[in-house]
Amino acid sequence: MVEVFAVASGKGGTGKTTSTVALGMALADRYDVTVVDADTGMANLLFHAGLSDAETTLHDVLADDAAVSEATYERFGMTVVPCGTSLDGFRDADPARLREVVATLAADTDVILLDSPPALDSRTAVLPIVMADRIVVVLQPTIPAISDGLKVQEYATSYGTGVAGILFNKVREDERIDDVAEKTERYFDGPTLAAIPESERAREARRAGRPLLAHASDCDAAAAYRRAASQLEIEHRDVQTVAQRARSAIIPQKA
Ligand SMILES: Nc1ncnc2c1ncn2[C@@H]1O[C@H](COP(=O)(O)OP(=O)(O)OP(=O)(O)O)[C@@H](O)[C@H]1O
Ligand SMILES: [Mg+2]
Repeated sequence: MVEVFAVASGKGGTGKTTSTVALGMALADRYDVTVVDADTGMANLLFHAGLSDAETTLHDVLADDAAVSEATYERFGMTVVPCGTSLDGFRDADPARLREVVATLAADTDVILLDSPPALDSRTAVLPIVMADRIVVVLQPTIPAISDGLKVQEYATSYGTGVAGILFNKVREDERIDDVAEKTERYFDGPTLAAIPESERAREARRAGRPLLAHASDCDAAAAYRRAASQLEIEHRDVQTVAQRARSAIIPQKA
């Protein structure tokens, strides 16, 4: 049984990659978790997970030069599928193959988290959202970020992808997050999973090339990610159904 989530936002830089790795680590206490860098154009999950020197990556799999198993690494209690950072690697990669990758991974894990690109303007950008069972929307508590997040929700819904919840990130103390969350929740189909504080530890963790929960497990931001993970009710679905949904995901022509 498995569920596939796309960690998405609309706006760039809201903390999708940080959140994918942090949620993955927190969920790994209870589940067998696989995180995938599905931001194949601007991949950087590898820098958050101690995998900057990974030899074989998702790019090789998407170019049909390697099997999925060759691009999976056991790190921090999770299975991690990093993506390469070279432009040549991106050029040679067929984004549509991500569907088969997810279908293959689904056979052997409980939770798949797809770190998604920002925006909705390319096939690469939309595919994780189209393929996932549900999205987790990462928002900074600003009007533009919330507006972009709503567009992502609308897009997801139009492809039958549900909304698991909202994760506010980089929340400053002076932002009245409870008020913002209450108002925002009215427009989203999922609950607020947590509000992650703006945290120097998060930036430090990235610089150290480690997930926040490994770098500073006791900090407030790490605790907030653990709360988010405990709020996330995993809806375990039949592996065949999930794999079939991934395989048959329609890649919109326009995007
Ligand atoms: N809670 C936080 N507090 C402070 N800095 C944070 C927090 N979360 C993430 N960051 C920092 O913000 C920057 C962007 O984070 P991240 O790469 O996770 O965002 P992203 O949404 O994946 O970006 P992109 O849209 O480019 O993929 C990184 O430098 C990261 O360390
Ligand atoms: Mg990212």
